[in-house]
Amino acid sequence: MLIVISSVKGAPGVTTLAVGLAALWPEPDAVLVEADPAGGDLAARFGHSPEPGLTGLAAQAHTGTLASLAPFTQRLAVGADVVLAPAGETVAASTFTLATRGLQALRRLAEQQPVLVDVGRLEQSSPAAGLLGVADHVLVLADGELAAQTQVEARLGWVRSVVTGRLWLVRTGAGGYPGREIARDLGVPVLWELPDSQLGAGALAGRLRAPAWRRLRLARAVRGVALTLTTAQPASILAAEPVGSIMSTDPAVRAHYAPPVAAVPPVIQAAAHQPRAQQRMEPRPAEQQSGPVQRPEPVQVRP
Ligand SMILES: Nc1ncnc2c1ncn2[C@@H]1O[C@H](COP(=O)(O)OP(=O)(O)O)[C@@H](O)[C@H]1O
Ligand SMILES: [Mg+2]
Repeated sequence: MLIVISSVKGAPGVTTLAVGLAALWPEPDAVLVEADPAGGDLAARFGHSPEPGLTGLAAQAHTGTLASLAPFTQRLAVGADVVLAPAGETVAASTFTLATRGLQALRRLAEQQPVLVDVGRLEQSSPAAGLLGVADHVLVLADGELAAQTQVEARLGWVRSVVTGRLWLVRTGAGGYPGREIARDLGVPVLWELPDSQLGAGALAGRLRAPAWRRLRLARAVRGVALTLTTAQPASILAAEPVGSIMSTDPAVRAHYAPPVAAVPPVIQAAAHQPRAQQRMEPRPAEQQSGPVQRPEPVQVRP
């Protein structure tokens, strides 16, 4: 299985999710290839040398003799097997080689083992663009705020036209629109709502050595993403009819996208007037909890 993990703008946590998936994948042999054209982060974060890594992998792919990822893979302290990339823009050339001359070899390897590829930000001109057409799953991460979702929507046209596998959104951050609404409005299924977690993200960035990090909320969410991807059936790819573009000037559509301030649940408004000690006792609003997204009633099933 070949899984591409990406964002469209900012740094919503692509590399963090990618490392988490490689460390927590339910089957053995999952490998993460760090192929962000802007440069790798994981060697610095975990105190590794970037070699062996992507540079050697790309050189092998260039010769047309790539038969295994193992010689280019290193194991990080969190248990993730990763093909590390050096920092800097030279990665773009390696990524391009992998996504062109190495494409068939990578596809063949992905038939034998789960291969995750961190491609950083999606751009039409990205050297990683070729990977979108051969991936089984393409994940796009963005927070739930209107600005971030507008950025996603603005790119959906070309992204949809090149992705042949399954396209998923992953909502990050605590605020903004709930995944259920995003799925309906953009017509793309939201795979998961990842929680904000300093501890979990710290462990997955090599900042914290927390032996029990696998039990943290973020790790449990990442495992949920992996399980969903390994069990997803084509018929479960459902998308409701969008209400309309979030960039629409139609007043009726604009009204739908009014800032969600008025939607604060009464329990939270009441809590705002209580002493802090009592506020902590209140349950969190449903849309801020992480977990699988309640998908809307299916109205359209892609063949
Ligand atoms: N779920 C999360 N909760 C809290 N912090 C996070 C989370 N995911 C990522 N981060 C932090 O945000 C920063 C950017 O994350 P990173 O995964 O490198 O983003 P990207 O790859 O999209 O640029 C890092 O400092 C990381 O630890
Ligand atoms: Mg990154």
